[in-house]
Amino acid sequence: MNNIFAFYYSSIGKKVLMSLTGLFLIIFLTEHLVGNLLLFANDQGKMYEAYGDFLVSNPVIRFIEIFLFLGVLGHAILGVILWFKNRMTRPVKYKSFRLKDNATLASRTTIITGSVIGIFLYIHLKTFFIPSRFSAEKVSTYELVVKAFSNPWYDAFYLVALFLLGYHLRHGFQSAFQTLGLRNKTYTSFLDLLACIVWCLIPLGFAAIPIYFFFFHQAASTVIMGVH
Ligand code: HEM
Repeated sequence: MNNIFAFYYSSIGKKVLMSLTGLFLIIFLTEHLVGNLLLFANDQGKMYEAYGDFLVSNPVIRFIEIFLFLGVLGHAILGVILWFKNRMTRPVKYKSFRLKDNATLASRTTIITGSVIGIFLYIHLKTFFIPSRFSAEKVSTYELVVKAFSNPWYDAFYLVALFLLGYHLRHGFQSAFQTLGLRNKTYTSFLDLLACIVWCLIPLGFAAIPIYFFFFHQAASTVIMGVH
């Protein structure tokens, strides 16, 4: 038991936990993206709603959701603790930033990109998750999506947040494998390919959704005007 606490209190213990929660969140993001791609089915959201209903009614998924929220919270709290620790052990601030310094821009700005993703998540859950799970009567998630993405400011915010998510993942994914000691010569090219898929394709896939609903989804105006 003492060993577990000692591991948690060490910086490397926290880094391992950050890496594991980060990788778990990437698995969630992949599943979430695949589910959300059903929005492109062009069937007025029938398959998307059915997928949402399946998630809500499945007890296994509801159970995993508890770990998802704990994972998000844990990842964020550990990130802030490690950031403070790093600052305290580096009393002299960098005078100016140079790319050849040992920390890359991505690693030095993870606290900023992570904070913006945190704000994004708060707004995102308030728009979609809270109404779809906690409203007295059944809410159509498809209509929530159509309505939210008809707002250009909301779309612009999503695109900025998704760009920063990509940047955050670019550093986070590589660094997780480094921390877990899984980055060796045998897997380098496979991991580089996987990293590209994660930090590039996942945010791009999500970004396609607000763009599609704002520019190409004809039904948007009819749903908003209440003509179904
Ligand atoms: C831009 C495209 C996205 C759309 C259309 C979308 C849509 C949704 C919807 C409708 C829900 C509620 C689902 C339900 O409760 O049944 C939801 C939940 C959630 N979303 Fe998103 N989402 C998007 C992107 C993201 C991104 C980029 C993240 C993370 C950075 C994210 C994280 C979450 C989380 C943590 C939940 C709550 C857990 C869950 O219900 O699965 N979403 N999203």
